[in-house]
Amino acid sequence: MPAIFSTAPGKAILFGEHAVVYGQPAIAIPVTQLKAKAVVQALPLATTGTIHIEAPDINLDSDLSQLPQTNPHAMAIQLVLDTFNINKPPSFLLRITSKIPVASGLGSGAAVAVATIRALSNFLGQPLEDVQVCSLAFEIEKLHHGTPSGIDNTVITYAKPVYFIKGQPIEILSPTKSFTILIADTGVSKATSETVAQVHAAWRANPSEYEVIFNNIGEISKTAYSAINAGKLKLLGQLMDQNQNQLSEMDLSSPELDKLIQSAKEAGALGAKLSGGGQGGNMLALVDESNQASVQSALKNAGAASVFSTTIP
Ligand code: MEV
Repeated sequence: MPAIFSTAPGKAILFGEHAVVYGQPAIAIPVTQLKAKAVVQALPLATTGTIHIEAPDINLDSDLSQLPQTNPHAMAIQLVLDTFNINKPPSFLLRITSKIPVASGLGSGAAVAVATIRALSNFLGQPLEDVQVCSLAFEIEKLHHGTPSGIDNTVITYAKPVYFIKGQPIEILSPTKSFTILIADTGVSKATSETVAQVHAAWRANPSEYEVIFNNIGEISKTAYSAINAGKLKLLGQLMDQNQNQLSEMDLSSPELDKLIQSAKEAGALGAKLSGGGQGGNMLALVDESNQASVQSALKNAGAASVFSTTIP
């Protein structure tokens, strides 16, 4: 039996991270340059029921039976088997590789989950619908960040730009005018679960102040939605700057992020902000043809560990 594989892209949040956890709208795009891949291969000679997992990027090489149930790979496999009521699965090897840096705001956990769920359900001859893939991946997101909004698993499952409000049907965006974003890595890893927990604690301690910030971010996302639809790139850049200010108010920026954001702006970016959990990870800069090259080199000179561009749609 041939090996079955599936890939899933990374993601970047353009607007609304953190506030989206509290019911505000957010906008996210898939990042197809970075992918996670899951390969499932039958092990016909292994003892019945053997499930082996290899994830060389994180030095994982283990039978499923040796992993705790809270391991995200173990959970992805179990969720798929449970969906089909399979108690005695065929023996197989699951191999996971990913080019998406971990703890960098680019959705590596959700991408690995989506790729695994799709590859395994296809291997079992029962391909799942996107809506089911998305909801199983959401269960795994809860392991990664406790109280996720669901935006990461959604944008990664559908691999399209989305306007997302927690608990509501998603809207796929189709911008009238394409736009280019540079994605630059601070090289500092930060688990999203930590910043989500920090915002949660700060909101509990100071609900009125934080709700004003969440509402401001929600308004920014709504205006950005109209700006994307109308192709108003200058406005989009201004909204990114405003969103960054709100994120800084919540202490989600960092000296490394601030340095990259400032250098992108000085080199002519239309707007710049952190993306995802913050306090490290990646930042985004909106550029046009006239300034893309200069912003890219400014980001490198300011110490970005990597810089690449993505054009939407
Ligand atoms: C993480 O990519 C985005 C956050 O808003 C968390 C979430 O929405 O689950 C920080």
